[in-house]
Amino acid sequence: MKLWGGRFETGPSEVFERFSGSLDFDRRLIDADIRGSQAFARALERVGILTADECAQIVAAFDQIRTEAAGAAFYEGATDEDVHTLVIRKLKECAGAVADKIHTGRSRNEQVSLDTRLWLREECDRVRRLLCGVMGALLRLAAAYPDAVIPGYTHMRRAQAVLWPHYLLAYFEMFSRDWERFGEARRRANILPLGSGALAGSGFPFDREAIAQDLGFEGITRNSMDVSGDRDFALDFLYAASVTMLHLSRLAEDWILYSSEEFGWMELGDGVTSGSSLMPQKKNPDSLELIRGKTGRVMGGLTSLMVSMKGLPMTYNRDMQEDKVPLFEAADQLSGCLEMVRVVVESVKLHPARPAAAAEESWVVATDLAEALARAGTPFHQAHQIVGRFVLESVRGGKKPADWTPEEMRRFAPEFTGEMVALLDPRRGMESREVPGGTGPEAVAAARIAAKERLERMMS
Ligand code: ARG
Repeated sequence: MKLWGGRFETGPSEVFERFSGSLDFDRRLIDADIRGSQAFARALERVGILTADECAQIVAAFDQIRTEAAGAAFYEGATDEDVHTLVIRKLKECAGAVADKIHTGRSRNEQVSLDTRLWLREECDRVRRLLCGVMGALLRLAAAYPDAVIPGYTHMRRAQAVLWPHYLLAYFEMFSRDWERFGEARRRANILPLGSGALAGSGFPFDREAIAQDLGFEGITRNSMDVSGDRDFALDFLYAASVTMLHLSRLAEDWILYSSEEFGWMELGDGVTSGSSLMPQKKNPDSLELIRGKTGRVMGGLTSLMVSMKGLPMTYNRDMQEDKVPLFEAADQLSGCLEMVRVVVESVKLHPARPAAAAEESWVVATDLAEALARAGTPFHQAHQIVGRFVLESVRGGKKPADWTPEEMRRFAPEFTGEMVALLDPRRGMESREVPGGTGPEAVAAARIAAKERLERMMS
């Protein structure tokens, strides 16, 4: 069925029909389309296009269509151009002649915007719940090893010692920003476009606020031309999804390294790793590699829609139909990755002795020493020089921090006091970092409690 045709002498070519149809992918919007159409029927009743009886008939028919849509046979043989057309055909089959009025003063241009917004609202809620699941798992992993010490890295070189929970809380922060971003994406999507018509505003005096209320929208859009040509709400979602995937890919990369034989810090559960068809000893981190890999698809989706929208003349252009595949694909991949990463986090066993040894064997305490000298009165620049020479001497002599005696240290530089000798243990230096947001044990304990409270609020 078509929603147009009067102006044409012949029908579309078979190639064009196949080429332009979107039912294969936009059928995902069917529930939103029905919900929106039911609200629109009620709006038509309020402006006197439908009688109360007709409206009730249409709404009931839509309920029936919704039930049928869950069955496998529903789409069999459907050649409709898109989901909106299919829904109207089904309405006609179900409710008869009264269905001919449903499209009064409504355009598919606003309908596709409406449906996508309705769909996005729920998708944002779903993603936010999944993010909460990941954040909860991170907090539990932090609680499992509250005192574990790891070397933190810059430039992939050992930099300063930090607590394992401090490291995990860094990812908690990233995911909590993602949670906020999806809230913002939801807020922007949650505006009613209906009443905009094709581009110029509807020719019927709809009470748009009432339709918004009916569908649970926060408000109404302000400009019909903007509505017709706008896909920012889809881009907002794709951007939020891309940043989340970026964060996931970094976690994946970290743990692929940390679980390697070279690091040996952690063991990933058997359930999230796979073996090799050839090499019997292998236990590969495929789950994390796939998360890292799927990032490309999601970011590709953002790029794809950006490029589709770029330079489009006002207002609607059929190019915009190309929004759905990247949007749905990104949503699916993101959800899958969030589910997966949660299971990975829950499977991790840390071997705390390994990262602790990595911290102790390297010179992650150098900054602690220099800062202690500065606290004792040596200008920091000189303190930096002294400790730099101290490290150089150690590296030349093959000495680790623990190999130095207090006497040797004082002989090397009289500025080194007893307090500074103690700082050769990385744990001691961390204690000087009790600044809010730092890795001091008390600061981290407080941050863990605060994160837990924040997560509870996010979940409520
Ligand atoms: N399937 C179309 C889309 O997704 C619906 C809008 C069609 N509008 C039109 N003027 N052809 O964009």
